[in-house]
Amino acid sequence: MTKATPRVFSGMQPTGNLHLGNYLGAMVNWIAMAQSHESIYCVVDMHAITVWQDPRELHKAIRDVTAAYVACGLDPKKSVIFNQSQVSAHAELGWIFNCVARLGWLDRMTQFKEKAGKDKERASVGLYVYPNLMAADILAYRATHVPVGEDQKQHLELARDIAQKFNIDYQDSIAEAGYAQGFFPQPEPMITGPATRVMSLRDGTKKMSKSDPSDLSRINLTDDADTIARKIRKAKTDPDALPSEVPGLKDRPEAANLTGIFAALEGATVEKVLGQFGGQPYSSLKNALADLAVARLSPIAAEMTRLAADPGHIDAILADGSARARAIAAPILKDVKKIVGFVQS
Ligand code: TRP
Repeated sequence: MTKATPRVFSGMQPTGNLHLGNYLGAMVNWIAMAQSHESIYCVVDMHAITVWQDPRELHKAIRDVTAAYVACGLDPKKSVIFNQSQVSAHAELGWIFNCVARLGWLDRMTQFKEKAGKDKERASVGLYVYPNLMAADILAYRATHVPVGEDQKQHLELARDIAQKFNIDYQDSIAEAGYAQGFFPQPEPMITGPATRVMSLRDGTKKMSKSDPSDLSRINLTDDADTIARKIRKAKTDPDALPSEVPGLKDRPEAANLTGIFAALEGATVEKVLGQFGGQPYSSLKNALADLAVARLSPIAAEMTRLAADPGHIDAILADGSARARAIAAPILKDVKKIVGFVQS
């Protein structure tokens, strides 16, 4: 395996509004990684169209998600922020990986089965090869660290398998190109957000999701203070007082979710939160949580509104990020083509 310099890559789909689960499960982690590593954060618009997207809504969602990245605290000067379709290396390497990955590997992907549902004959071919494109996203930059949610673990394992098979299949050619230790690194998933699983406010056993029909189930990053407070007040609970210790959260998904969210927003441990609220009714935790959530999230919402008013500024961030992304990927893709045996001018 290549001893590569650490480089972080991650991506989010521009579909629907971002919510508290995206913020605590992904963004907080991305921002932390960006402090200490070279980092590349992509708006994966090519992944989005694996299921039908209305062009006008997609166009808006790409800008909205970019604005959310920036509003949450990613610095577009420090991190490379761009949309996937502006950097052709993703599609080019994706094709090569379509020829490296095996049908049997993709057949095992649980997310395809979930998304395609019963009628898989009618799913797009793109949805099926989605994980190959995801591997290309990461490996076009020879990225080593990939902060993702638990649900992406299997796709990351596939990316590692693709990297390894490429390194083995093209072993001799890779050595000839001057790489003694294989060409692609094994990208590491980093599943360590402060709250990797933020659950629905209406059902503590289901993930907070942009596709949940009930808007009360999630806190959107664009919600105003009153909406945030109302959703927390209405959040599902159970009849008992809050436990004083962590084992008491077992089989109490709503208590676990609300204390987990509080801890993540506060930057404290769940132990500490239970030390404060244990033995008390839910209402005291909910009041404090509403204040905390409003304090943490309303500056983000305000910044998103400000950015939404200036799409030219967002487009300039994406143009600059795309140029920087192209510059990193170009020499890597040139070597890949050489290794595969393509003639280049
Ligand atoms: N599949 C990821 C998701 O739905 C998004 C994604 C696409 C991604 N390409 C990526 C994440 C590369 C990490 C790295 O969440």
